[in-house]
Amino acid sequence: MRVLVTGGAGFIGAHLSNRLHEKGFYVRVLDNLSSGDPAALAAGINFNRGDVRDIPKLWSLLQGVDVVYHLAALVSVPASVLYPREYNDVNVGGTVALLEACRDVGVKRVVLTSSATVYGDQKTQPVREEMIPNPAVPYAVSKLAAERYLFTIGRLSGFEAVALRIFNAYGPGQPLPPAHAPVIPQFMQQTIGRGSVVVFGSGQQTRDFVYIDDVVEALVSAATAANIDQETINVGSGQETALAELIEQISATVRAKANVIYNSEMSGGIAHLVADLTKAKQMLKFKPRTTLADGLRKLYELDPRFSRAANKKGIAIS
Ligand SMILES: NC(=O)c1ccc[n+]([C@@H]2O[C@H](COP(=O)([O-])OP(=O)(O)OC[C@H]3O[C@@H](n4cnc5c(N)ncnc54)[C@H](O)[C@@H]3O)[C@@H](O)[C@H]2O)c1
Repeated sequence: MRVLVTGGAGFIGAHLSNRLHEKGFYVRVLDNLSSGDPAALAAGINFNRGDVRDIPKLWSLLQGVDVVYHLAALVSVPASVLYPREYNDVNVGGTVALLEACRDVGVKRVVLTSSATVYGDQKTQPVREEMIPNPAVPYAVSKLAAERYLFTIGRLSGFEAVALRIFNAYGPGQPLPPAHAPVIPQFMQQTIGRGSVVVFGSGQQTRDFVYIDDVVEALVSAATAANIDQETINVGSGQETALAELIEQISATVRAKANVIYNSEMSGGIAHLVADLTKAKQMLKFKPRTTLADGLRKLYELDPRFSRAANKKGIAIS
């Protein structure tokens, strides 16, 4: 089977592309390298630098492709609050450009990486796919719009369409930008470096942290699973963890005490978010295998950014 992975040099994209390649798929990647790194891709993967809004490029890259994984996106929630037009251009405009090209070339299936942020605040947890989305930030709006375009253009054009709503993915290779970094790599780096871990809100807000290998398994299944056309499917761990508890687990993993500061002046975002996995289990035979404790340990051991920092500080790596 031949696949195109947009955003394939990014965190989830590189893990996914490598896994597909390992399983014998022919993998083509399109990424503009606004944040990704092609060095993370295994030899034998066909890498192409370019923008997902570049229609002529899409036409040539889509030739002979059966399944498209659409991951290329801008991914920072706080940055989307500052630059909503840019988020709309890339995440919505890029999706529509890609879907138009998929329609014209005759792709069979498109798998979109949507986001749990589309749920926003909900009255009950865990969140189920049929709940009415309540996006609270431009990033979430852009992912919801991408889902709607996917299903509409798929239905009108005859290709199969599936959206996976991924919760908080983490693992080796996740970008750690100086501003707005994701909580797990940021808190781990700050704890190892004996800096302060600043938490917005009370620390009692909960999230569903899902290890990268589990996310990849769900995505791989979505290439071939039967009867998932027009479906939206949650991909999380199904476990709810408060940020305060996450920090304790990170401290235990790296064997260093975190100096935690709670900034209650800043909003901690959505109060609670955890996935109901009933649909994923039924439709993708999905079973998250990595506990948070195991995932943090793997991240600490496998990601050289943390192992190196730990070595410098003389912290033993378990
Ligand atoms: N990481 C998570 O926890 C999470 C959760 C929910 C959904 N997602 C979704 O998964 C996908 C991948 O996220 P990630 O965490 O790997 O982020 P990432 O930033 O590591 O990957 C995104 C990739 O897209 C590329 N890209 C950005 N704009 C592009 C453009 N215009 N043309 C071509 N390539 C472009 C970037 O260079 C990068 O390699 C995104 O669609 C994101 O919305 C991620």
